[in-house]
Amino acid sequence: MIKRVGVLTSGGDAPGMNACLRAIIRAGINQGLEMYVIYNGYRGIIERKIEKVNRSFVSEIINRGGTKIGTARLPEFTQEEVQDQAVKILKEYGIDALVTIGGDGTYRGALALSRKGINCVAIPGTIDNDVASTDFTIGFDTALNTIISCVDRLRDTSSSHQRCSVIEVMGRDCGDLAIYAGIACGAEIVITKDHGMTKQELKDSIIRQIAEGKHHIMVIITEKLCDVKELAREIERDCGIEARSEVLGRIQRGGSPTGTDRVLAARMGVFAIDLLLQGRSGVCVGIVWSKMTATPIEEALAMKNKDNAFLMRVSDIIK
Ligand code: F6P
Repeated sequence: MIKRVGVLTSGGDAPGMNACLRAIIRAGINQGLEMYVIYNGYRGIIERKIEKVNRSFVSEIINRGGTKIGTARLPEFTQEEVQDQAVKILKEYGIDALVTIGGDGTYRGALALSRKGINCVAIPGTIDNDVASTDFTIGFDTALNTIISCVDRLRDTSSSHQRCSVIEVMGRDCGDLAIYAGIACGAEIVITKDHGMTKQELKDSIIRQIAEGKHHIMVIITEKLCDVKELAREIERDCGIEARSEVLGRIQRGGSPTGTDRVLAARMGVFAIDLLLQGRSGVCVGIVWSKMTATPIEEALAMKNKDNAFLMRVSDIIK
């Protein structure tokens, strides 16, 4: 039976991580567990930044973006010696279980530690929504709403000047932020890694839409696909419309979590403690069709990105 549980946040921070931390700590204490926080992700294990906490440690954070316990990316954690070192240190502290909040890198760390005897449950916390074993990750809804408020503002100026706005959003390899924002903001064109188009197809589409009567065009595109500044220049040169580019950047990662993210975070946190108490390890929490799920991490990592073909069709039909 587990007694001491550590919690860490790792990878890119996401709004709602604090609400999740709060839920985990309080659910654990309510179940008689001793709760520890580990600062700055997996690095905090190696650097022994580990602290026992009580209920009040997580007071006043439910509404705060970021993560109170810090986060980091630790590429070295793929090395077996580093993992062994982490196991040794966790055992020194008597920590027999871990809840880790983050994206796929965080999942890989939890999987490695669970194979080495530490009971691990992973929770999806990333704005990218790129974890296929869950419908939604903590932080996605807040980031989406941040993008919506930025794009709504851009729409005002873009339509006043009859311009084309090319807006780059985050998501790493996942197009969810772009597609959901595209639908919610009525973008004329959405481009993602899985639903791409050539530059020529893009320009043809802009020219056609202008010919059909559009006075301004909004293009939402997932990061890392091209240089949006250069793309805007080409559009202006070839499509007969002034064009500007905007990279929303890390603004998308900050801010107070939405109600949806807070509730999701609370549900996932409590469920993670339930799973540990049931003796589960090496699994990740998800929400699928509104139901809590536990999927082996290995299986989750092997799953393909969600199929967004229907969402793309929605975006196209109602533009
Ligand atoms: O995973 C979250 C995320 O914001 C991605 O959307 C983005 O590609 C990446 O992190 C940026 O990471 P960093 O802030 O470490 O440069």
